[in-house]
Amino acid sequence: MIHPNHVAIIMDGNGRWGIKNFNNRAKGHEYGVKNIKPIIEFCISNKIKNLTLYALSKDNFLKRKKKELKNIFYLFEKYFNKQKTFFEKKKINLFFIGENTGLPNNIKKIMSSINKKSDIKNINLNLCIAFNYSSKLEIIKSFKKTLSQNKSFNTKNIQKNLFTGKINDPEIIIRTGGMNRLSDFLLWQSAYSEIYFVKTLWPDFTVRKLKNILTQFNTIKRNFGA
Ligand code: FPP
Repeated sequence: MIHPNHVAIIMDGNGRWGIKNFNNRAKGHEYGVKNIKPIIEFCISNKIKNLTLYALSKDNFLKRKKKELKNIFYLFEKYFNKQKTFFEKKKINLFFIGENTGLPNNIKKIMSSINKKSDIKNINLNLCIAFNYSSKLEIIKSFKKTLSQNKSFNTKNIQKNLFTGKINDPEIIIRTGGMNRLSDFLLWQSAYSEIYFVKTLWPDFTVRKLKNILTQFNTIKRNFGA
């Protein structure tokens, strides 16, 4: 079995899961966060070197109710404080992609202190968390950076200046929750990704389901236009 180098996941369906099981959207986010660890551990044991998780889109941040966002920030802070030793022990290089403007100060602080530490040598996994992320804005930023470097607009330079510039494009993008769209996620990087839309709501997405996707992926011949 060939394992991909980079798997990206749009973790959708927390709210619906929370309503279905507890009549409470917040519970869905709580269980959604709990579901991250087994996926990380699976990636490490199967030598999948890069895992990108879409945790919050720019549009989620702009359009969700204040109360829901407050709960999301609370879970974010709790998770990244609590998992620090796990990330260190497992040699996980954690970094964030997305905008930090407008986010509460405590969240900005966590994001920037973790990003400062990011180093992609001697690690088991690059864990990239897209938070307050917009792929369209990422692409615009990359063009602006390339211009400021006096470099030409070619695919190599634009790619390098994306937030994900240091890692390969994902071979696989999975979206849980039943919607068949990318929602402003890795639009440039997904040029040749295999995209799997699954009905399972994120808190119910298991390692077994991920393994099934990897098995399907292994049956596909990727020819990159050849
Ligand atoms: C998608 O489900 C989930 C979100 C928009 C937010 C999830 C983010 C967190 C819980 C913050 C913590 C993050 C990490 C990485 C620790 P949805 O609410 O869109 O579900 P729905 O489509 O059923 O409404």
